[in-house]
Amino acid sequence: MTILVTGGAGFIGSNFLFWEAEKNPQDRLVCLDALTYAGNLSTLAPLMEKENFRFVKGDIADSKCVDQLFAEEKPDIVVNFAAESHVDRSIEDPGLFLRTNILGTQTLMDACRKYGVGRYHQVSTDEVYGDLPLDRPELMFTEETPIHTSSPYSASKASADLLVLAYHRTFGLPVSISRCSNNYGPYHFPEKLIPLMISRALADESLPVYGDGANIRDWLYVADHCAAIDAVMRRGRVGEVYNIGGHNERSNLEVVKTILRALGKPETLIRFVKDRPGHDMRYAIDPTKIHDELGWLPETDFDSGIAKTIQWYLDNRAWWEEILSGDYQNYYKKMYENR
Ligand code: NAD
Ligand code: TYD
Repeated sequence: MTILVTGGAGFIGSNFLFWEAEKNPQDRLVCLDALTYAGNLSTLAPLMEKENFRFVKGDIADSKCVDQLFAEEKPDIVVNFAAESHVDRSIEDPGLFLRTNILGTQTLMDACRKYGVGRYHQVSTDEVYGDLPLDRPELMFTEETPIHTSSPYSASKASADLLVLAYHRTFGLPVSISRCSNNYGPYHFPEKLIPLMISRALADESLPVYGDGANIRDWLYVADHCAAIDAVMRRGRVGEVYNIGGHNERSNLEVVKTILRALGKPETLIRFVKDRPGHDMRYAIDPTKIHDELGWLPETDFDSGIAKTIQWYLDNRAWWEEILSGDYQNYYKKMYENR
């Protein structure tokens, strides 16, 4: 079996490649990644020497490149992680998000149709459902919750989801979609909340918390997400959406304080800054469907997952210090200087 993994040099895609290489060593893994600021080829170094792994640098929205790769590899499964993924960047530059996240999805699916791919799996997000109010803790997103987006990022992901379902209905493309809550774990780019706070706390720098820090996210350890995607793309029903989450809701302030405690750093490092425009209040996933149909359950709770993650950042300083020393400096200045 040949599995084409797009966006495999990013956070979740790389964790997925490692997960598959370990659990299903008989399968051939092909990674297509444009190596944007978020892609890091050094992450994939342990896979590079393997006979049944191939890395190709290319853009999912480049139909010539995609067509050539499909002609060469004839993948059985395509799993699309490639995306612009940061909400704050989508507020700065929506156009790039529409191109990669929507047109890139279309380009991949057109190639899937042409080459008769057996399964196209779209890695989506719970952000397509918009947000939930803080005062209704019993509410959760199910697969039936209406799409209701807040940011250019979530709107682009929702658009892609609609296109995926349309390709199934109109062309009979064998698709599936998974919508997951916030992930955390190794190789998470340090612009996102958890790795940003770990790296800044270690340097005794201020920790920028948006608004009052009361916003809630439903955190899932990345390996649990990988296991869920594997289950859906191999055994999930065609044309279906599966929500993925593990009932690990935490406010941003709780997450930041947990990190500070684990690192023995003072809470005086916290700095409340101007809120993100359109900031979603709360995400919470109801994972009943994937549990009932595919038997998936998360294995890692938040306390052990965050401890493992912090340890990974302590043990792999070179990986994130390299990122922080480059262009990222300009990004941080631009996004946070006058906040
Ligand atoms: P990431 O930003 O860490 O990685 C994205 C990867 O895609 C990078 O390697 C980048 O180089 C590549 N890429 C970007 N544009 C490309 C293009 N045009 N062609 C080819 N490759 C391109 O993102 P992530 O956090 O690993 O997220 C992966 C997927 O999971 C995304 O689709 C995202 O929407 C979804 N998702 C993420 C989370 C989360 O918490 N991070 C939660 C739910 C769903
Ligand atoms: P993020 O990691 O960007 O993921 P998402 O916006 O996709 O959920 O942010 C997680 C939460 O943390 C979100 O509520 C915004 C907040 N946040 C901060 O308070 N400060 C920051 O510097 C960042 C990057 C995020």
